[in-house]
Amino acid sequence: MADTRPRTLYGRRRGKPLRPGRRDVLERLLPRLRIDVAGYQGRVLEPRELFDETVEAVWLEVGFGAGEHLSALARAHPHIGFIGCEPFINGVARLLADVDQHGLGNVRVVMDDARILLDCLGQGSIGRAFLLFPDPWPKRRHNRRRFVVPDNIAAMANVLADGAQWRIATDHMDYCRWILDHMTRSAQFSWLARRPADWRTRPDDWPPTRYEEKGMEAGRPPVFLGFERRRRIQPVKQP
Ligand SMILES: C[S@@+](CC[C@H](N)C(=O)[O-])C[C@H]1O[C@@H](n2cnc3c(N)ncnc32)[C@H](O)[C@@H]1O
Repeated sequence: MADTRPRTLYGRRRGKPLRPGRRDVLERLLPRLRIDVAGYQGRVLEPRELFDETVEAVWLEVGFGAGEHLSALARAHPHIGFIGCEPFINGVARLLADVDQHGLGNVRVVMDDARILLDCLGQGSIGRAFLLFPDPWPKRRHNRRRFVVPDNIAAMANVLADGAQWRIATDHMDYCRWILDHMTRSAQFSWLARRPADWRTRPDDWPPTRYEEKGMEAGRPPVFLGFERRRRIQPVKQP
């Protein structure tokens, strides 16, 4: 059931005016590829039904920025459906330019706050989730704006299938500690790292993003954190 409480989105929805080419692609593709989450208030959104072709699973990226990670994965996995969630219109326009260029039929977009989407999605309906370089909100009084907070962890746990991965990257060490602290306290997730190389090295199937490159240039090496949604406990059937 959708949550109707008002949400405050911390961050920009608009940047510089769009170039005519980007505006054109946005106007052409967005009406067809956009998921209007407001229309799902009170209804469950079954993500596989959003795609024209049958998809094996649906993966979700929260805050995709310019969309390079999402676009690379959508090209590499044509039988997976992808939902990208990004309220910043300039980022959405960049992703859609890629979707157009590569003729991707397996991408859908929510141009809004991911928390609204999480409230609509069916339980266990997402096969993998990504949160890459989320805004770190470094000032102590702003820490509660961070995406990785107990309410959002619980909402993500609800929509992820048993055994699904949630991949999170950051180059902000205080946020890294915060993420590990919150995620390892959650009963629904386990951290997959076994040795330092597991979080220091980006896996081969994890495409880089613009923010990762910016961080590297500024001398901030990122961490790559993989968490697994623990299996739900099945109720014991009475004989
Ligand atoms: C620091 S940028 C990182 C962008 C991209 N993931 C990358 O690595 O290049 C964080 C992004 O998260 C988006 N964002 C912030 N809060 C969000 C929310 N509640 N739901 C969805 N996206 C959000 C912002 O608009 C911004 O584009």
